[in-house]
Amino acid sequence: MKRILITAILAICSNLAGANTEPAKAEPARVVPGKADIMARGKQIAGAVCVACHGLDGISAVSGNPNIAGMPAQYIAKQLALFKSADRKNAIMQSMVANLSEDDMTALGLYYFAQSGKSNAIARDKALAEAGQKIYRAGVPELKIPACAGCHGGAGAGIPAIFPRLAGQWQEYTLGALKNFSSGERKNTQMQAISGRMRDKDMLAVAEYIAGMRSR
Ligand code: HEC
Ligand code: HEC
Repeated sequence: MKRILITAILAICSNLAGANTEPAKAEPARVVPGKADIMARGKQIAGAVCVACHGLDGISAVSGNPNIAGMPAQYIAKQLALFKSADRKNAIMQSMVANLSEDDMTALGLYYFAQSGKSNAIARDKALAEAGQKIYRAGVPELKIPACAGCHGGAGAGIPAIFPRLAGQWQEYTLGALKNFSSGERKNTQMQAISGRMRDKDMLAVAEYIAGMRSR
């Protein structure tokens, strides 16, 4: 009896081990397998509603509308829920999400996370962007401003699930977001504390640098 049990366990173990010997793909896809239907739902809503401002691929044409391509799926879904509950205030976005269900928000998050278009934003002022790069990589120690890279990643790609992508974001949008955090209009414990210590010139410089960053 014992031997049969051991043989069975060994068989299961070797099956599990076997399942893991598939060679790893060079470039892991962002799409979670088996989510094709959810992705299709996300694409459908994106094409019907969001496309006007964020583009079908999450790349916006104008600086007032943020790029959302490649943003962590959970981050997108969370922001949509915050707009819906009015914990994050923006008249346009609050009306956009009014009729979205939780499943729609999940679908939109997964769909836009899977997009990888190139941003239209650029850094125009080289000296300003260089000052911003210093803040991004090393913070401002005398003001206790931490390096942005610590949470948003060295290349600004963001870190799923909670740290949004910053690379290639429009300067105007990033600046607005930092100001909204520092005034407390937009709530997040970490970002309110950090932006509260930033001077206007720090915000401007780092936003300029971020606009020119490129990351997968
Ligand atoms: C009429 C233009 C417009 C449409 C249509 C629109 N948005 Fe937005 N969206 C905006 C603007 C403007 C902001 C920036 C709000 C702010 O500053 O807080 C925004 C912000 C967002 C954010 C937060 C981005 C971030 O980095 O935190 C997400 C996510 C988002 N939109 C997703 C969507 C989705 C999904 C749809 C479709 C259901 C959609 N939007 C439709 C204009 C639009
Ligand atoms: C301790 C971690 C941490 C550090 C360090 C950090 N951030 Fe953040 N940041 C966050 C989190 C978490 C969010 C998401 C907040 C939310 O959910 O609304 C965020 C959001 C943001 C946003 C809003 C993005 C969007 O798409 O709306 C901007 C802009 C931003 N951070 C800029 C910065 C800059 C610039 C620095 C460096 C000066 C920095 N952050 C440092 C954690 C951090």
